[in-house]
Amino acid sequence: MATPTQQPDITRIPERWRLGKDFVPKGRYIDPEFLALEYEQLFPRTWQMACREQQLGAVGSVVEYTIGDQSIAVVRTQEDEVKAFHNACRHRGVRLVRGDSRIREFHCPFHGWRYALDGTCTFQHLENEFEPRDADYRNLRPVRCERWGGFVFINLDPDAVPLLEALDPLPEALAPFRLEDMRLLWHKQTILPANWKSAIDAFIEGYHTPGTHPQYMRLAESNTPSARPAELPLYKYAPYTPSIRYEGHSRFVFGVREDGEREQIRSSAPGADLVANQVQYQVQELRALNTQRDGRAAAALRERTFERGERPDVVFQQLRRELAEAEGVEWPEMTREQLQAGIGDWHVFPTLVILVEVGCMLGYRSRPNGNDPDSCIFDVYSFEHFPPDGAPTVQTEWIPDWRSHLGWGQVLTQDFRNMSEVTAGLHSHGFDGHWLNVEQEMAVHNAHHIADRYLFEA
Ligand code: FES
Ligand SMILES: [Fe+2]
Repeated sequence: MATPTQQPDITRIPERWRLGKDFVPKGRYIDPEFLALEYEQLFPRTWQMACREQQLGAVGSVVEYTIGDQSIAVVRTQEDEVKAFHNACRHRGVRLVRGDSRIREFHCPFHGWRYALDGTCTFQHLENEFEPRDADYRNLRPVRCERWGGFVFINLDPDAVPLLEALDPLPEALAPFRLEDMRLLWHKQTILPANWKSAIDAFIEGYHTPGTHPQYMRLAESNTPSARPAELPLYKYAPYTPSIRYEGHSRFVFGVREDGEREQIRSSAPGADLVANQVQYQVQELRALNTQRDGRAAAALRERTFERGERPDVVFQQLRRELAEAEGVEWPEMTREQLQAGIGDWHVFPTLVILVEVGCMLGYRSRPNGNDPDSCIFDVYSFEHFPPDGAPTVQTEWIPDWRSHLGWGQVLTQDFRNMSEVTAGLHSHGFDGHWLNVEQEMAVHNAHHIADRYLFEA
């Protein structure tokens, strides 16, 4: 097997799963056969983010990454080397590691075989009683493992194209943001009652902002704006978030239409307070996309007197940078063009979404949960550029039921509330599939389009 480079063979796609120009049939989300096909053709051949490199801090640190019934052990073998193996003893298949741990070697609990961190079998009890096999058969079976931006990716396909090639255009577009130097502020993992793709879809378009997060239209009010449903006149402040489609990924950026059809919220509000309100709202309710330090820069912005022609958003960028540098943070340098080319919400097909800001980033990862098409394992990550030695030690917070956790903040709670309702609607006999906005929701369509190359390879 290898990464498909051609368009799918449309004739192989059953009618009930065939994409329209602006339509995604619901069977692609709810049919167990579709999930089975994804497990067979998509997940064994795509690069998936297994963990953050910082989660493999010391030599011998191991993270178990699972996708469906496959378990992969990702291990730091040397200070600057990370490897991955199928997490199965070569003798009778026992899983060697569970969850995150730190080991000196792999030690099978069944008959006691041992493997060095690099997968070499070092102890086979009573080896002379076995028919001989060559070393490759005795050693742990390797899995492709490559790194980018501080993320560790795995690919079960030995013939897959290299990670950096598969990620194009992200590595070049995001190089100035130095994602590899960011560290976790927090990481939570939960189960959401939705197809793994529905959970991704919720975070790769901004068209839902006025419907789901109306408070973002009311930032002129205060830094704790009302979240009551938006009245119709408020919709004119909705951001414009066109999908940008690439061969293997998608992106959107918050912006304003140039045709003047929508108004910028800022035209109706005092600039400095509006900027400060947005920053402080995000610091309080998301703990991501803006840092605590940004919150202090926002407070300073309110106190400042402005010269004629000075723009509050530009001044804020200076203030946050000054505060960061005063703390010893190496602030990412970039031109305006580089900023425009990298900032925004990227769908790193298939399982990862990153919202990239200067100095921080919010990440989401979604995987199917076993064989239930209506359930997914969902991770949320908040990253920042910290001063040297300033990053906290972060443990993954496991939340078995997302509703039982009060710490998501308003924005994520609003997004998660939609999940079970989307799932219910997909099962409705009166609903056929997603009818997409052809400007702002095409990232959803693009993900299916990319998937078809794997699922229905020509
Ligand atoms: S299954 Fe691992 S040693 Fe027997
Ligand atoms: Fe949202």
